[in-house]
Amino acid sequence: MCGIIGYCGHRPAVPLVLEGLKRLEYRGYDSAGLAFLQVSKLEIIRSEGKLCRLEEKVAQTANTFAPISIGHTRWATHGLPVEKNAHPHASNSGAVAIVHNGIIENFQEIKDELLAKGYVFHSETDTEVLANCIADELDGLLQRHFGKSYAGAAQEFAENAQENSLQYLELMEKAFAKALQKAHGAYAVVLLSPLVPKHILAARLAAPLLMGIGIGEYFVASDVPAFLPYTRDVVFLDDREYVVISSGGYAVKNLYTAEPVQKEIHHIPWDLQGAAKDGFKHFMLKEIMEQPKVLRDCLAGRVQNGRICLPELDNMPVPESIRIIACGTSYNAGLWSQYYLEQFAQLPVTVEIASEFRYRKPILNSRELIVVISQSGETADTLGALRLCREKGYPVLGICNVLGSSVAREASACLYTQAGPEISVASTKAMLSQMVVLLLLALYFGQRRNTACPAEEVLAELRRLPDVLEGTLADMREKAKEFAYKYAFAKSFFYLGRGTAYALALEGALKLKELSYIHAEGYATGEMKHGPIALIDPEFPAFALAFDDENFGKVRSGILEVKSRQGKVIALLQEGTVLDCEDLWYIPKTAIPEFLALPAMQLFSYEMADYLGKDVDQPRNLAKSVTVE
Ligand code: G6P
Repeated sequence: MCGIIGYCGHRPAVPLVLEGLKRLEYRGYDSAGLAFLQVSKLEIIRSEGKLCRLEEKVAQTANTFAPISIGHTRWATHGLPVEKNAHPHASNSGAVAIVHNGIIENFQEIKDELLAKGYVFHSETDTEVLANCIADELDGLLQRHFGKSYAGAAQEFAENAQENSLQYLELMEKAFAKALQKAHGAYAVVLLSPLVPKHILAARLAAPLLMGIGIGEYFVASDVPAFLPYTRDVVFLDDREYVVISSGGYAVKNLYTAEPVQKEIHHIPWDLQGAAKDGFKHFMLKEIMEQPKVLRDCLAGRVQNGRICLPELDNMPVPESIRIIACGTSYNAGLWSQYYLEQFAQLPVTVEIASEFRYRKPILNSRELIVVISQSGETADTLGALRLCREKGYPVLGICNVLGSSVAREASACLYTQAGPEISVASTKAMLSQMVVLLLLALYFGQRRNTACPAEEVLAELRRLPDVLEGTLADMREKAKEFAYKYAFAKSFFYLGRGTAYALALEGALKLKELSYIHAEGYATGEMKHGPIALIDPEFPAFALAFDDENFGKVRSGILEVKSRQGKVIALLQEGTVLDCEDLWYIPKTAIPEFLALPAMQLFSYEMADYLGKDVDQPRNLAKSVTVE
């Protein structure tokens, strides 16, 4: 949800910030902008639409050799995605420009106060309110120390910037902190000011913000890929901390006390290659195709001598039940795991949508294990649910992909899914890796509870799966293309599944919606007859998952019911089974077919969207990481 970046160093900052924004564009892409200082004057360039529009505008600007710049790519929350609402937003006085990710919940209150003081607003954003709030605090401090406000003596302050730099910086930090203390909600905010032309200030509360440490250059950004070509040394900021960077160093401080905070420096293990397209047309295709490797990486080190090793959990008591909380695709992974956790670990499992969970009055108990699943580890609702449980004193297990993310840091224990960076907005490989971890979790608790679960057989299948998937992905893609072209006429689609295929049906429908904007609904096959079947006609096809398990007979009946109402059906089957259906799609036989069915459905949605000319990696209105409620 919005990507932000700030740079201080020895390189031309504007092109660097633009490049960084490209690698953050997955976080939001309805408008973009950047700010830099030109002879102590704040320059802001903004544009509606995708980043290429901003690039064109920047290319027309004569001098972009400034060594300091901030940038933003937006996912609109306040006001339409038009240029006036794009970031950076400057204060009326021009003393500060900020970029912001998050929502200031009490912005109207602050705005009313500022309006009463004569401030004017040119956008509908909460960010412009925050910029003016900081500038207002700054004016008060400047008045006290120098007898004049920035608004009144901008030129004079700019001319004295060198001489008074330390004093100005101290006042700027105070103003920044005071304004942010007034703001409720969520923010990651980065500030640039002609008053402190060699420094950038940045702070966070409930929105991701990290700092990159280079040699003679420092970065702040929403995510690591923004500065990955320059450094892999990262400091993760915590809530209510701010950082001041310059080309000469950095200082992290507490937003309330201004006390210095010692931070650990983390080394990011993956390089830019992991975040590049590698010759694939889209990130999504690359991420689907790398799933055999994801399966291997996710298993690595977690099975030894036939036993599941999850040392992260060894100190946790064996629970009496499990409650899984997540959003979007991660929720579907959780729902899928319910079947295996109940079967293998023999524990009751409930699966909840995070945004619903946190606003009920959930009755929790200390004998249940709460598990939150999040690829990004920053999803506001999932994080909110985690915090709610932690505040009540319950331990929470996080299943997360992004190293050092909020979920990973705030959970009592974290299982990393080790899928590598996922850039495409629609989640693919992350779900597969979550499924592996959840299956291992089911076996692990089965092991600790001594249930009669077929761990050996399941592990043997899991180990075989990467090769099977590798051997079938190319054919799968061809089949996906064939069916996508054939069914591109559809305005609506049903996805049907039963048992472990039910959650996959929900995921198949979600992927089709997200990518191709075709209306799709996932249903439990057995529910069709309770209403949805009324919609079936030749124009409303179904994608049915019919695995070779104890449900096969019932699923077949469901499919025949659709067919006998002239519904068209694509049936995804395992080799060795037959069905009276025109469009059969065979996947190799395995005891855990979901690991093959998922990539097949992902490829179908991918090919459909590509065929229909949709923006595969950045579908309209979506964002990779939803850090607002
Ligand atoms: C957004 C993304 C989805 C993702 C969901 C949950 O909606 O577009 O692809 O599944 O957030 O994200 P998380 O990072 O918590 O798994």
